[in-house]
Amino acid sequence: MTNRRNIVVLTGAGISAESGLATFRGPDGLWEGHRVEDVCTPEALARDPVLVHRFYDARRAALAHVTPNPAHAALARLDAAWPGGLLIVTQNVDDLHERAGARRMLHMHGELLSALCTACGRRRRWDGPMGGQPPCPACDTAALRPDIVFFGEMPYGMARIEQALATADLFVSIGTSGAVYPAAGFVRTARMHGAATLEINLEPSQGSALFDETRVGPAGVLVPKWVEAVLA
Ligand code: APR
Repeated sequence: MTNRRNIVVLTGAGISAESGLATFRGPDGLWEGHRVEDVCTPEALARDPVLVHRFYDARRAALAHVTPNPAHAALARLDAAWPGGLLIVTQNVDDLHERAGARRMLHMHGELLSALCTACGRRRRWDGPMGGQPPCPACDTAALRPDIVFFGEMPYGMARIEQALATADLFVSIGTSGAVYPAAGFVRTARMHGAATLEINLEPSQGSALFDETRVGPAGVLVPKWVEAVLA
């Protein structure tokens, strides 16, 4: 692949699995412990803010005990060395891509380490618990919520993502089941614009048939190999 080309990478929970963060739909999946309706919808937050905050406070606290794995590190190397266009779109709300050094990236489902005030609309970095309903530092209202895109809400950055997919020469999906839209539809958009498509996943995903190639195995092994080949 010439190095003037544009690459879009989509990552899901599978890229963080080898760092020790649970995926959503695996045997130990996060949703297994909680019905989605209980923790990841605006209605849930209105109905039971204590449960929702407890769920996200636990996930935010878990970040202190995990580190980026070789897959995150490889994408950061690609980010630093690739002279063409690159956008890493992550569905993940952890900060492992950033901690590995990735810069050209976007969290389409929000971030655990960000708080959104539902009163004044301001966002700010937040690494502590939110369950005690702390006041917003900007407007002093006890109206903070996790800056996470709940089911039924609009993902972040869609205009930027659509633009990147429209000009992509290569679309690579890593560690996602292809179960949730709009991310599950990105491969179709990329193909429509003539991009080559590659999937790297522990098992064939719901969208595998849409990819030119699917490499089955752990991201921590396959992503460094792929990046090494691209940068060669
Ligand atoms: N390496 C590569 N892939 C892996 C690994 C690994 N070590 N471990 C698991 N996987 C794969 C699984 O096979 C699965 O296909 O990662 C995928 C994880 O799928 P999900 O648990 O459904 O997570 P994801 O696709 O990111 O979910 C999308 O759904 O619940 C919402 O907002 C949430 O962002 C999330 C979205």
